[in-house]
Amino acid sequence: MTRALITGATGGMGHALALALAAEGHIITAVARTERHLKSLIGELGGPHDYLTADLATQSGLRDTAAALRARPYDLLVNNAALAPSGPFDHTDPDALRAAIRLNCEAVVALSHAFLATARPGAALVNVSSTLAFVPKPDRAVYSATKAFATSFSEALWYEQKGRGVYVLALCPGPTATRPGLHADTPSALVQSPETVAATAVTALRERRRPAVVSGRANTLFAVATRLLPRGTVLRLLADG
Ligand SMILES: NC(=O)c1ccc[n+]([C@@H]2O[C@H](COP(=O)([O-])OP(=O)(O)OC[C@H]3O[C@@H](n4cnc5c(N)ncnc54)[C@H](OP(=O)(O)O)[C@@H]3O)[C@@H](O)[C@H]2O)c1
Repeated sequence: MTRALITGATGGMGHALALALAAEGHIITAVARTERHLKSLIGELGGPHDYLTADLATQSGLRDTAAALRARPYDLLVNNAALAPSGPFDHTDPDALRAAIRLNCEAVVALSHAFLATARPGAALVNVSSTLAFVPKPDRAVYSATKAFATSFSEALWYEQKGRGVYVLALCPGPTATRPGLHADTPSALVQSPETVAATAVTALRERRRPAVVSGRANTLFAVATRLLPRGTVLRLLADG
């Protein structure tokens, strides 16, 4: 049996990842802030899984989770929890922006470090990023920048860690229906289910080839287009979309 720690395991994507990875034979440690959601997930998973209640945007929550990662070797860490403040930057509460940077960047770095301290050959680290890592979305300036950070960070670690047999992946989903009503304005053909994204992650973990994996054909086309089109054009398209 292999052990996997998943942050934000009670949300849409984290929940789908927890189910998919448990089905692959991992014993899950689920991390989030809301204990009753964690208990409900563990009940749904059944078996030997456990949870840790922690706010990863705080020093104490980070310390407790990093300590759990150091206490015994995990085979898989999925840094999935993130905050996505939206709206014009200069009208957004700076505390909300700081919390997003702490959770989406600082926690990812601290937990990756703790995980790699005890990781054995064959272990894997997945940082859930986004296709917004490739081009920033106006009105999501800080969120997009944190995802660019997550992808860049993961790709460098992919190279650093492959010599010791640890696979590092930036998982880049596009619009995903993780909550009712989310992406209601996006054409449904462009919105994936969390289960589809989780299946992409499972396949990438089996193949262990690429440092970054985009989920789905439409999102892959989007990622390619962001590299080919003039930056101003892509920004205009994203702002209108
Ligand atoms: N949904 C999309 O369209 C989409 C697209 C691309 C990428 N992504 C990425 O996919 C990942 C998951 O997104 P999602 O839509 O599934 O998110 P979500 O539904 O908002 O779930 C977030 C999860 O993180 C936990 N969480 C939030 N703040 C936390 C904190 N401070 N400390 C610990 N846990 C915390 C939440 O539980 P508690 O509130 O109980 O803590 C919940 O389990 C994120 O990295 C996101 O950037 C999402």
